[in-house]
Amino acid sequence: MRFGHFSDAAREYVITTPRTPYPWINYLGTEEYFGLISHTGGGYSFYRDARMRRLTRYRYNNVPTDVGGRYFYVNDDGDVWTPSWAPVQAELDHFEARHGLSYTVITGERNGLRIETLYLVPLGATAEIHRVRLTNTGATAKGVKLFSVLEFNLWNALDDQTNYQRNLSLAEVEVDGSTIYHKTEYRERRNHYAVHAVNAPISGYDTDRETFFGLYGGWNAPDAVVAGHCHNSIASGWSPIGAHQIDVALAPGEVRDLVFVLGYVENEPDAKWESPGVVNKAPARALLQRFSTSEQVDAAMAELRSYWDDLLSTFTVDSGDPRVDRMVNVWNPYQCMVTFNMSRSASYFETGIGRGMGFRDSNQDLLGFVHLVPDRARERILDIAATQLPDGSAYHQYQLLTKRGNHDIGSGFNDDPLWLIEGVAAYVSETGDLAILDEDVPFDNDPEDTGTLFEHLRRSFHHVLHNRGPHGLPLIGRADWNDCLNLNCFSETSGESFQTTENLAGGSAESVFIAGLFVHCAPVYAALAEAVRAPEEADGARRAAAAMSAVVLDHGWDGDWFVRAYDYFGNKVGSSECDEGKIYIEPQGFCVMAGIGVESGEAVRALDSVGKILDTDHGIMLLQPPYTTYHLELGEISTYPPGYKENGSIFCHSNPWVMIAETMVGRGDRAFAYWKKIAPTFREEISEVHRLEPYVYAQMIAGKDAPRHGEAKNSWLTGTAAWNFVAITQHILGVKPEMEGLRVQPCLPAEMTKVEVTRRCRGAQYRITVANRGEGGSPRLAVDGQPINGTLVPYGPAGSIVEITVDC
Ligand code: BGC
Ligand code: NOJ
Repeated sequence: MRFGHFSDAAREYVITTPRTPYPWINYLGTEEYFGLISHTGGGYSFYRDARMRRLTRYRYNNVPTDVGGRYFYVNDDGDVWTPSWAPVQAELDHFEARHGLSYTVITGERNGLRIETLYLVPLGATAEIHRVRLTNTGATAKGVKLFSVLEFNLWNALDDQTNYQRNLSLAEVEVDGSTIYHKTEYRERRNHYAVHAVNAPISGYDTDRETFFGLYGGWNAPDAVVAGHCHNSIASGWSPIGAHQIDVALAPGEVRDLVFVLGYVENEPDAKWESPGVVNKAPARALLQRFSTSEQVDAAMAELRSYWDDLLSTFTVDSGDPRVDRMVNVWNPYQCMVTFNMSRSASYFETGIGRGMGFRDSNQDLLGFVHLVPDRARERILDIAATQLPDGSAYHQYQLLTKRGNHDIGSGFNDDPLWLIEGVAAYVSETGDLAILDEDVPFDNDPEDTGTLFEHLRRSFHHVLHNRGPHGLPLIGRADWNDCLNLNCFSETSGESFQTTENLAGGSAESVFIAGLFVHCAPVYAALAEAVRAPEEADGARRAAAAMSAVVLDHGWDGDWFVRAYDYFGNKVGSSECDEGKIYIEPQGFCVMAGIGVESGEAVRALDSVGKILDTDHGIMLLQPPYTTYHLELGEISTYPPGYKENGSIFCHSNPWVMIAETMVGRGDRAFAYWKKIAPTFREEISEVHRLEPYVYAQMIAGKDAPRHGEAKNSWLTGTAAWNFVAITQHILGVKPEMEGLRVQPCLPAEMTKVEVTRRCRGAQYRITVANRGEGGSPRLAVDGQPINGTLVPYGPAGSIVEITVDC
């Protein structure tokens, strides 16, 4: 069942009922100012950091689940309704929510009044626009009262929800004409405030929550809206809000636009005040001036559209199947931009106060983002590298505002360092910018202790080599990619964090996954070493990889699949010897991606086992059979009921590794079949089962052992976005920038007989036409009409157009 449809021409998902199976959200903003918005107007906004600079309040895990946002209310002669349906939930004669690229349009119509609100964050602005377009669709004149309302957050979102003894006595505002200034804590150490304004005279406002809603009133029926007028309240402590009242008269057919702005403003510390106690409003006025007419909003919208036109023209496909094309051309790269910006901080499953930028996560997010805005990827790489510790290990997370490693979580996740190599390799392959390797970058943000970026990579690589266990496999530390495999933790105290609890001393648990990742990294690391003229390092890396592959085949091969790990006591995890958790997905994907066992046959065998044991109608499960009891020696993985999260859900992040692995053994049909099971555009038809947005990937889909098999959770902020983009574009469609040229090596399913791809890379444009005759073997390429040997196409000069034909 569907709850809307894709509009491919507009690059929108059009939701046609407010009663979707879960709030379906979108993101506003691409640079520094961001908002989350659901299809019924719920959500919140922040400037750069969702925890430290939260502009508006949102209550998670609420009842109903999604209430609180930037809302507009109508009082039409006593009939109170909201054009976004929520929060009043009065039935609408027409409802439509269109989520587009960094904007959303919500339309509601009732009793001859249509209200269409466009929400967007203009490029280069620290503000969001809510343009409300009212149309009298009836035959008689209309006079209605329109109210805006949003709830300010007292900036620090964690404090805002916990420290009431302080924050209920803090709030301060100013009102000047139609502009409300939220200036809590501005009197002391903050030099930023928020504005909420409209480009029209108002007939009233409220800034005190209790006055507007009533102490016993709620979002569904605020006192002021029901009464038909605001009270011009000035918040003093308690809870500040921004509400405007505008009386609107419309002749039949008349259309009127109102432009509301919610903005974030900073002043220089010595220019905070206009007069004692009165904030300096000059920058706010300048901001509002830029968006004071509907035409200016149209211009901002046009600019946003062309921004996305340009970004998305980097990679396009025409495969003959709109479900593939809309994913690859629009929604997957769009989600990659969001994961790049948010890491794992703010979504409808991540509260924006918990997790900063993940070292491992952000490096992987780069893989799907680097082709969009390489300069921002470069900056991100240098920020991440600066949090690496001198011994090559890494802080697991860092804070976006301070760019410092997060001591609360610390380090010790032994896969982390290797992901930096993967991120840098992707960036250098995309851009050819070898100079980044010579950049001087601090360790642990200490300006006295620096090294080149390549030196950081060297320490990453050697950190793994220097931290190996009894079998010669890498030590796992706190956990590897699988955060819930806490093999040294032994936590017996309820409430203790598996992420931070002190590990048992002498832990020598080993990870076959890290071994696979290491072998996968080695060739690109060696190529980077050659680029910085360190041929011995390159040779050493290749030898180390060959040795590690041998160790994996000796100690990490179980007979039909790769073992997952060795626990603290040296027992196997993910082996047929185990009662539960006999087979895990991660080493099957990553070891094969690394090439281990491809020639000697283990690879195909492992992938066949995945197909037999882990595959379902909804994707590939993380492990089988799931753990039914708590295993002290395994940790968090065994805390989830069977079929959820790491305990045997379809953990979508790891599925593309198997897809890529399948292409490594030439099985495009299987690779593509796996992708279709988790790709949201293919799951759209079963939205009542999947429940989350049909335009973005979710982190997990409940596995077959869960009662709710097929149901997704945790959409948007997941490494699933980047890795699926890599799998479908670089390995199935097969167009992948490498250091020496563009690799064009499609591994297509039989159903895709003709494919056209365009790719912009290093300033040249590649037009690739693939004829898939199902011949198997190596594809045959011609470049500008001339057959070439192999599948590596040398990069053309900037500005050139390179025509490539492929027969396979
Ligand atoms: C989740 C993991 C996540 C970790 C992060 C765990 O509870 O299951 O998916 O990576 O928390 O802290
Ligand atoms: C989500 C985390 O963000 C990521 O770092 C981790 O690899 C996966 N969960 C798997 O546990």
